[in-house]
Amino acid sequence: MSGDPDTAFQYRSDGRLLHLLTLRDMPAAMITGILDRAQALAEGGRPHAGRGILGNLFFEPSTRTRCSFEIAAAHLGWHVVTVAAGTSSQVKGETLADTVQTLATMGVTAFAVRHEESGAALEAARAAPEGVAVINAGGGSADHPSQGLLDALTVRREKPDIASLSVAICGDVRHSRVARSDVQVFSALGVTDIRLVGPSELLPEEAPAGCTPVGDMNAGIRDADVIVMLRIQTERMQKASIPEPSEYHRHWGLTRERLALARPDCLVLHPGPMNRGVEIADEVADGPRSRVLQQVRNGILTRMALLEALAGA
Ligand code: CP
Repeated sequence: MSGDPDTAFQYRSDGRLLHLLTLRDMPAAMITGILDRAQALAEGGRPHAGRGILGNLFFEPSTRTRCSFEIAAAHLGWHVVTVAAGTSSQVKGETLADTVQTLATMGVTAFAVRHEESGAALEAARAAPEGVAVINAGGGSADHPSQGLLDALTVRREKPDIASLSVAICGDVRHSRVARSDVQVFSALGVTDIRLVGPSELLPEEAPAGCTPVGDMNAGIRDADVIVMLRIQTERMQKASIPEPSEYHRHWGLTRERLALARPDCLVLHPGPMNRGVEIADEVADGPRSRVLQQVRNGILTRMALLEALAGA
């Protein structure tokens, strides 16, 4: 386990998960345990009955993650309360910590926190009373751990020998929390060929250990087993550095012709929301190699497994 306070903070003294803030340095056995449980649920396993209340704190837009946590909680028999930016007392100056403590006092047992600030989930976890879990549901450009886990589940269900795969993560890697969580989860599961593919201004200034930056789309996806496409995250960029969409598509978009360079059974993932005609062509998004909707289904299973684990099941 890392000595880093952010990562150490998410574990109990016996090593079990207390919060899910990041996949950074998460032991492979813990990742595998969550994926195994999600897989068991996919195969008809009965959810553990619970009495939880999920507090969905979404201070940044979301369709998939917010609804996925709501539906996962409903499948477990939990209640859900949702607090959204613009309609919460945050607009009157309430701090995130006060929001967490207020809702925990009402009986919320776990929070899913989406925020533009990378450190918001940690702040919520520090404020949460003992026994109340916090899940980072996407923070800034740093972490989106439940997305990383559901992406790994989506790949593992079709390609169980995950360590042998070549994974290309393409597009706006620099501003992507999904890219970071995907690199962490695939690295932990033993993948050694992880390529970060995109124009230099959209790649990290320093590639994470074990990743290969590739500045050419065709070279980056050649013989890949898995391609993860990312949208350009304009909300985290300077206006001047946003590429023109049709030009971007020409150089970096995943088209049917380009996909033919990857392995014939290559899986195409995209965390969504997709910008069709920019990073991905319709024919690929809706084509036979696309696993976008499987990711959505697996998201519910993964979040059920996570809520169970955090509730101590
Ligand atoms: N994948 C993802 O985080 O999508 P949303 O922003 O719609 O939640």
